[in-house]
Amino acid sequence: MMVRLALITGASAGLGEQLAYEFARRHLNLVLVGRQRTKLERVARQAARLTRGKVAILAVDLLEEGQAQFVWQRCVQHCGVPDVLVNSAALSGFGTVAQQPQTAGQRILRLNTLVPLTLSQYFIRMHQHDPAASFLINIASAGAELTLPYSAFHSASKAALLGFARGSQFELARTRIHLVTVLPTLLNTGHFAQVIAPDLKPWPLLVKLVAKQQLAPKKVARKIVRRTFHDAKILRLPLPYQMVANVNQILPDLSYRLSRLIYQ
Ligand SMILES: NC(=O)c1ccc[n+]([C@@H]2O[C@H](COP(=O)([O-])OP(=O)(O)OC[C@H]3O[C@@H](n4cnc5c(N)ncnc54)[C@H](OP(=O)(O)O)[C@@H]3O)[C@@H](O)[C@H]2O)c1
Repeated sequence: MMVRLALITGASAGLGEQLAYEFARRHLNLVLVGRQRTKLERVARQAARLTRGKVAILAVDLLEEGQAQFVWQRCVQHCGVPDVLVNSAALSGFGTVAQQPQTAGQRILRLNTLVPLTLSQYFIRMHQHDPAASFLINIASAGAELTLPYSAFHSASKAALLGFARGSQFELARTRIHLVTVLPTLLNTGHFAQVIAPDLKPWPLLVKLVAKQQLAPKKVARKIVRRTFHDAKILRLPLPYQMVANVNQILPDLSYRLSRLIYQ
C-alpha cells in the first residue's frame, strides 16, 4: 500500500505530535499544522530524523475564518494531495453550559467539528474516484458516547464526528477512502489535571485511580496507525473500552450512574 503524504492538524503537541512521529517512521512526507511555530519546528526536526520523506509545517490558527480552506490549499499547492489526513486539533473546553461564555461553546464547535469536517469534505472530494487507497483519521473521544460531566459542548462536538462516520459510511464504501474515527478515553496530555481532576470527588484514592487510566499518546498513536491500515472504522481505545461501550449501549444509564458516584 503506497501512501505518500500525511496532513496532520494538532501536530505540535499530544496525540497529533505522536501520530506525526508514527507516520514519519513509515517514511511518509508530512505537513504538520498547529498554532505555535516554535513547537511545530521542534516536532518537525524530530520527525525529520525518523523519515526519509520531507517535513513541512503550517503555523495557523484554525479558529480563524477560512483557515481550514487555507491549510488544504497550501498543502495541495506546495506539497501535493495528502493521502492521509489526521484531524487531531481540538479544544477540551470543559465547564457547565450555563456558566460557559457563549463564545466558548462556539469555539469548541468550530475547532472540534466544523474544521475537521470541512477538511474531511475536501479530502473526500479529492479522493472519491481515486483508485488508490487513502486514509482519513478523525480523532473524536469516548465523550462522544459516554456521560462525561461538564463536557456538553465537547461531547456534542465529538459526537458530530461519530455522526459523520455513520452518515458517510454508505458512500465511502463505494470508494477506496478509509475513514477511521477514533474514540480514545483519557490521554496523558495534561488534560486530566486541568479539567477532570478538579471536578472529581476530592477522594485521593479515586483521583489516583482515575489518573492511572491515562493512556500514553505514543502507544495510542501506534495503535491508531496500525489499525488504520487494517481497515478499522470506529476505533475505541484502549481495548477494554470497547467492552465498556458495548455494555453502555445496552445500559446507557450506566455511565451516568458511575459519573454521579465519582463527580462532584
Ligand atoms: N486528552 C485527552 O484526554 C483526550 C481524550 C479523548 C480524545 N482526545 C482528543 O485527542 C486529540 C488530541 O488531544 P491532545 O490531548 O493530544 O491535544 P493537546 O495536547 O491539547 O494538543 C492540541 C493540539 O491542537 C492544536 N490546536 C489547538 N488550538 C488550535 C487552533 N486554534 N488552531 C490550530 N491548532 C490548534 C494545538 O496546537 P498549538 O498548541 O500549537 O496551538 C495542539 O497541537 C483531540 O482531538 C482531543 O479532543 C483527547
